[in-house]
Amino acid sequence: MARARERLTATLRADRVLPSPNIWHWPQVYEAENRAQDADGEIWRLLAGVANWTGDVLDVGCGDGFHLPRFAERAAAVLGVEPHPPLVERAKTRIDGMTGVAVVLGSAQDLPVADASVDVVHARTAYFFGPGCEPGLREADRVLRPGGALVIVDLDAAHPPYGRWMRADLPGYDVAEVDRFFEISGFGRHRVVTRWAFPDRETLEAVLRIEFSAAVAARAIAETPGLEFPVGYRALVRRKPSGLIVG
Ligand SMILES: C[S@@+](CC[C@H](N)C(=O)[O-])C[C@H]1O[C@@H](n2cnc3c(N)ncnc32)[C@H](O)[C@@H]1O
Repeated sequence: MARARERLTATLRADRVLPSPNIWHWPQVYEAENRAQDADGEIWRLLAGVANWTGDVLDVGCGDGFHLPRFAERAAAVLGVEPHPPLVERAKTRIDGMTGVAVVLGSAQDLPVADASVDVVHARTAYFFGPGCEPGLREADRVLRPGGALVIVDLDAAHPPYGRWMRADLPGYDVAEVDRFFEISGFGRHRVVTRWAFPDRETLEAVLRIEFSAAVAARAIAETPGLEFPVGYRALVRRKPSGLIVG
């Protein structure tokens, strides 16, 4: 339950660096989780249509940099920003030898880059963007060029079975309230259903155990007979205005 409480606190106050027990404490299991996620590339297909990924891309809360090489395939330059120093080191190891990709210590509230210097700010499974995250939203607006986009990809707590497991551990999480927050903050919302596919039961169970309390993980494992399950996401997109508004 301690882990669930930690995440609940995280959900309710998105204005600072938030603990991320899964990747902070079990980075190898989280790596397996990232490999299992979005087995059919649905998120990447969606993202391709909501922003231009060929310019300067900033991945905030990049963890150990799992998505940086994928961005680097198209982007002119990629910068990963992460507040947890051990993950910054792991991300640097991952991108070692790649050109046009860098990783720095920083947070959504304090991005170590100049004003109007990036085309896309991306954040994946980024619960530090939610109600109360206005400082992070202002910071993203500061660093984006006019016409640039903030793209937040997060788990859809309304979509079963994963969303139901999430909500069992986070009884204070109000899906409608989170949706309302993003609506009034000017975001468009896109929902997508993906498939998480695992190589074996051991990996699937290890991933569920780092994501949920012991009781909810046991239920999730019992409810999942095979090696895969569906997981819903939503992509929230807000564009920085590109011109003067003449009234
Ligand atoms: C669930 S992990 C996801 C990591 C990565 N985006 C991925 O998909 O592999 C969330 C990450 O957000 C980072 N984080 C927490 N609070 C943050 C904040 N205020 N600003 C930026 N990153 C933050 C954590 O350190 C962690 O690495």
